[in-house]
Formats: sequence, C-alpha cells, structure tokens
Amino acid sequence: MHRNVKEILYTQEEITQKCKELAKQIMNDYHDKNLLMVGLLKGSVPFLAELSKFVNLDVTFDYMDVSSYEGVESKAITIKKDLDQEVKGKDILLVEDILDTGKTLTTVKAMLLERGAASVEIVTMLDKKEGRTYPIEAKYVGFDIPNAFVVGFGLDFDEKYRNLPYVGILKEECYL
Ligand code: IMP
Repeated sequence: MHRNVKEILYTQEEITQKCKELAKQIMNDYHDKNLLMVGLLKGSVPFLAELSKFVNLDVTFDYMDVSSYEGVESKAITIKKDLDQEVKGKDILLVEDILDTGKTLTTVKAMLLERGAASVEIVTMLDKKEGRTYPIEAKYVGFDIPNAFVVGFGLDFDEKYRNLPYVGILKEECYL
C-alpha cells in the first residue's frame, strides 16, 4: 500500500467484479440503442477501460475534460476539452470516477441534452452521496462511499495517485 494511503476501500479485484456487474446492466438497457460512452477526463480513464471490456455491444467512445476541482476545494466548471463528435440522437452514458456535489455532471448533462442527445445517463465508479448539493443521481453506481477524500484507480490529489490499482483514503496530513 502507498505510504500516503490510510486505508484501502476497494481492491483491483473488487473493482473488476463490480465492472462486470455494471456492464451486464448496461448491456441489458442499451442492446437496442446507439450507445456513446463519454469519459470525463482524466479520472474516468482506468474505470472506463475496465468497464468497457465487459460491455459487449457496438459502443463508441468520446472524451470531455471538464474540471471543477483544484486540490480538495470545489470551484467553478471549466470545459478544457469538448467532444469530437455530434451527439444528436445518441444515447450517451457519461462515465465518471466519482459523483460528489454533482456540479460537474449536472452541467455536462444539461449541455448534452441541449445539443440534442436522445438520452444522457451516468455510470460512476464511486458515489459520495453525503457530498451532494445538486439534485442528480447516477443510473449505475459501483460503490457508495463515505465523505472522505479518496485516491487511486483514476482519482488524484494534485495529479498524483491516479495509477494506484485500488481506491483508498488519502491520509489527512497530505492535504491539510
Ligand atoms: P462534483 O462536481 O463535485 O460531483 O465533482 C466530481 C469531481 O470531483 C470528480 O470527477 C473528481 O475529479 C473530483 N473529486 C470529488 N471527490 C473526490 C475525491 O474524494 N478524490 C479525488 N477527486 C474527487
């Protein structure tokens, strides 16, 4: 375990198992749809890679970089990279590492519906329900987690720890 991690919440094996379960539900719901999976950079990359291995459909992919966090403090949304393709008529599944206040996904979802997407749903690896300040929920949730600052499997603190093969709680002394 990394020296700055206090506790491992989910191991690589548990995340992979959860991805298989989520993929089954997604295949069930999207087998007759025009599925576009949109990864929110950068945090969703490991989760999207793991999840999509088990989504046995003709799915297409695109990415957006929308940031609302700098360090541990929530800030206004900035679009750093937009989608490469048109979304009109597409059934979009937003793939996120963690749903916290809901600000990022509320903004992105509204924007994509405005552009004419047929539907916009959310799959998130982690759901920090206690942190929610916007009325938004993910259709597919990997794990519900307590209100702690977590890193690993895509999640960072100051761009570090994304490569950890597990999700763990960061020691408070690393950011206080
Ligand atoms: P929201 O807009 O507050 O829902 O924020 C979602 C984004 O905040 C995620 O994509 C993460 O980048 C970041 N975030 C929220 N909680 C954590 C955490 O515990 N660790 C690392 N990043 C987090």
